[in-house]
Amino acid sequence: MAKEARIIIEEKEYKFPVITGAEGEKAIDTRALRAETGYITYDEGYGNTGSCQSDVTFIDGEKGILRYRGYPIEELAEKSDFVETAYLIIYGELPTEAQLKGFSARLTRHAAVPVNMEHFFEGYPAHSHPMAILSGLMNSLTCFYPEYAANNHKEDLQNFDEVAAAALSKVRTIAAMSYRMSQGLPYIYPRRDLAYADNFLHMMFTEPYAKFVPPPEVSKALNLILLLHADHEQNCSTSTVRMVASSEANMLASVAAGICALWGPLHGGANMAVIKMLEAIHAEGDDGSTFINEVKSGEKRLMGFGHRVYKNYDPRAKIIARACETVLESLGVEDPLLDIARHLEKVALEDEYFVSRKLYPNVDFYSGIIMRAIGIPMNMFTVMFAIGRMPGWIANWKEVASHPNGRIYRPRQVYVGETTRTFVPRDKR
Ligand code: ACO
Repeated sequence: MAKEARIIIEEKEYKFPVITGAEGEKAIDTRALRAETGYITYDEGYGNTGSCQSDVTFIDGEKGILRYRGYPIEELAEKSDFVETAYLIIYGELPTEAQLKGFSARLTRHAAVPVNMEHFFEGYPAHSHPMAILSGLMNSLTCFYPEYAANNHKEDLQNFDEVAAAALSKVRTIAAMSYRMSQGLPYIYPRRDLAYADNFLHMMFTEPYAKFVPPPEVSKALNLILLLHADHEQNCSTSTVRMVASSEANMLASVAAGICALWGPLHGGANMAVIKMLEAIHAEGDDGSTFINEVKSGEKRLMGFGHRVYKNYDPRAKIIARACETVLESLGVEDPLLDIARHLEKVALEDEYFVSRKLYPNVDFYSGIIMRAIGIPMNMFTVMFAIGRMPGWIANWKEVASHPNGRIYRPRQVYVGETTRTFVPRDKR
């Protein structure tokens, strides 16, 4: 017998179908709720709301499971790299050798940004935040490639392979250019012979006329960071991408909105906030103990801890914590912030405040320390997250765009403002 949920409102019973996901998660299908009952659900923060059905990423927050297209994150982190994983997320299958070659060639072809765009950078003050530039310029790409921005899902899907490659490849080039601009350095153009992560490092750090060879541990660490961020279900930025896409906006506009949503410190901005927090603790001469007390008394928030979905541990945090040790050791970097991070983690994991609230380190607790070690400046940390998250945004945009009965996303609200009032002329107020 098909399962159903019964809701009794004012003594009248209503039945709603139950949907079961591929991993057994259950949802009550309330799409007919308002029409049948006159009620809506109230779920501020959407903690209990399924906004879509998706086959991209699965998370079990209680068990600490994360899978992209069915593949465990641990296995991908060990055996794959960012570009292969991006292909998997975007197209749903691991690529064959030929498919990967074709995909990489397409990324290479799309690596440069239109030369006119260089002038955009001149208009920004040198201290501009690179997230603002990234979002603005990703959207501006639609001006150069109007054929990628029909704002008609059917037409935009016809160019999907090209737009997806452009978004994934150019996001990295724009990011590197914004860094060079902030440093007053000349732009470095992408190279055809370099792989994705190395090409980014090249555009960031090559000195003119010098040959750049990134140390293998740096390429590996960067690949890992990008791969671990590649998708994460219906988080704030991905939901934003889907929301924008649902109005039939093109992919580039949708991901530009995702970049804005990612910027905040409760989401992608956390990696930067973690390092600022560790630096402040270090500057105070604290080993983290005083800070923890301030967190417990509600004065401070332990950045890089806690997650809306993970209530056991964040599997990405485990992988990145291990990688952090390895990278710092192989680069011979000693970072006092790592000791503070380790201490904070130990104290927090034993403390009743954190245990009872199921607060564990998330992926951003250690990612900033690795990025510092490989020379990425702090204001670029969230940009790195945006580059990494691009495959997930693209895949989610595609799900919305190819939905056969897609509707514009439009939540309801419970209005709590004034009820009807009579207008009073200004001289009588
Ligand atoms: N430090 C201290 N206390 C915390 C923290 C934290 N980092 N996170 C949650 N809490 C406390 C809350 O104060 C609340 O306590 P209360 O029950 O006494 O009121 C309880 O834990 C539940 O927290 P919520 O705010 O309801 O959790 P929510 O799911 O809304 O927020 C979030 C999740 C935003 C990630 C939160 O844990 C946080 O702010 N963490 C720090 C920022 C961060 O690291 N963000 C990165 C997230 S991962 C990512 O985007 C890749």
